[in-house]
Amino acid sequence: MAKVMIMDHPLIQHKLTILRDERTGSKEFRALVSEIATLICYEATRDLPLREVETKTPVAVAKTKIIDGKKLAFVPILRAGLGMVDGVLALVPSARVGHIGLYRDPKTLMPVEYYCKLPADISEREVIVLDPMLATGGSAIDAIAQIKKRGPKQIKFMGIIAAPEGLAALEKAHPDVEIYVAALDDHLNDHGYIVPGLGDAGDRIFGTK
Ligand code: PRP
Ligand code: URA
Repeated sequence: MAKVMIMDHPLIQHKLTILRDERTGSKEFRALVSEIATLICYEATRDLPLREVETKTPVAVAKTKIIDGKKLAFVPILRAGLGMVDGVLALVPSARVGHIGLYRDPKTLMPVEYYCKLPADISEREVIVLDPMLATGGSAIDAIAQIKKRGPKQIKFMGIIAAPEGLAALEKAHPDVEIYVAALDDHLNDHGYIVPGLGDAGDRIFGTK
C-alpha cells in the first residue's frame, strides 16, 4: 500500500483555511499555494539521501552532510501545478523542472494530455509530481504513468486537497508512489469537484473565472 501523509501542521492548516475561502482573491491565493507547497515539500524531502563531507568552519574542520547524488525533478501538472513550483524551488533551487499538460474533459472527467517535456536525465532523479487537486485521480494517474515510462528512481505525489475517491484510485494505480497532501476532504460532487474543496484551482490561481 502507498505511503500517504496528510499534513496536519498548524501553519499548513491555517493557510489552507484562507485558501478555501471564496473571498480570497487570485494574488493571495497564488501566494498561499506557493507557501503551502514549500511546507509540504519540507516533509516530502525528509528522506533524501545524505553524504558526509568535511567543512572548514572559522573554528575547526567539521564532518557535515550534504544531499547525495543527482537530486530532484519537480513535475507540475499544468495548469494548476504551476502554482506550486516557486514554493518547492525555494527549498530545492537546483532541482530540474519538467511539465505535463493535462486537462479534464468536463463531460467524461477523463484526462486529456496536450504537453509533456521532462528533464533528459530524469532516470537519475527522484521525481515529485505537483498538482494542488487530486479529485478523481485521473490526471495524477496519467501523469505518473507518463513519467514512469522514462524510468525515474522514485516518484512522489504532492497535492494540497485530495478527495477520498482520487486518493484510493491513485494508491491502487501506483502503490509505489508516496502521496503528500494537506487535506483529505469529504467527497466529489456530480461535476467531479472536491467537496468542500476550494473550487477550480487553475481558475483561482490564474484569475480565469
Ligand atoms: C484540475 C487539477 C488537476 C485535475 C484534478 O485541472 O489541477 O489537474 O483537475 O482532477 P482529477 O483528479 O479528476 O483528474 P484541470 O483539468 O481543471 O485543468 P487546469 O489545471 O488546466 O485548469
Ligand atoms: N479540479 C479542481 O481544480 N478542483 C476540483 O475540485 C476538482 C478538480
